[in-house]
Amino acid sequence: MKPIIAPSILSADFGHLADDLEMLDRSEAEWIHIDVMDGVFVPNISFGFPVLKHVARLSHKLLDVHLMIVQPEKFIPEVKALGAHVMNVHYETCPHLHRVIQQIREAGMQPAVTINPATPVSVLKDIIQDLYLVMIMSVNPGFGGQRFIEHSVEKVRELKDLIEATGSQALIEVDGGVNLETGARLVEAGADVLVAGNAVFAAPDPEAMIHALHNL
Ligand code: DX5
Ligand code: ZN
Repeated sequence: MKPIIAPSILSADFGHLADDLEMLDRSEAEWIHIDVMDGVFVPNISFGFPVLKHVARLSHKLLDVHLMIVQPEKFIPEVKALGAHVMNVHYETCPHLHRVIQQIREAGMQPAVTINPATPVSVLKDIIQDLYLVMIMSVNPGFGGQRFIEHSVEKVRELKDLIEATGSQALIEVDGGVNLETGARLVEAGADVLVAGNAVFAAPDPEAMIHALHNL
């Protein structure tokens, strides 16, 4: 199975965002990855809903919204209003994760949970059956263009085992430092969805890079 490619617009040119969204529309990317940061959970602030409503209007791809914010459940209506396909919350921000997952599903979106590099896969054991997707952070969240954390490949394998052992249907997504080299190893380990920011937008031909990642 070819991996789903989710280019992260965090690395796009915000001065010419419409052009980049048009390029993504033409490309083989199935999803667009949207990184919302609050300067509290992560040491950076990206963009919020006033900007994202224009992204949603201009793009025809499925939106994969990655919320690096505290209390993400407060924004379920706003994410829903974007027409998001996936609403992705961090395990580390949700003491009542089960409730948040149900709320996301009730709102008509696909619930996803992300784990940070220091969070083990095993914490997902009791929630994995309720998830559409699990995302493994392969860098510490907050910035694009960081170096891939090697242990993430092992975590993908572990997550694949957990999914198979529990009969869960969850997809495996990986975010951070993904390029052709790390991407190939992640797909081999069981990743279904690859997020790529820098690898796509810093490439001389971003569309060709998306094609190459899609054909790993
Ligand atoms: C990091 C974000 C990522 C980031 C990935 O906090 O969650 O989605 O944009 O960027 P690259 O692919 O450049 O590591
Ligand atoms: Zn992300």
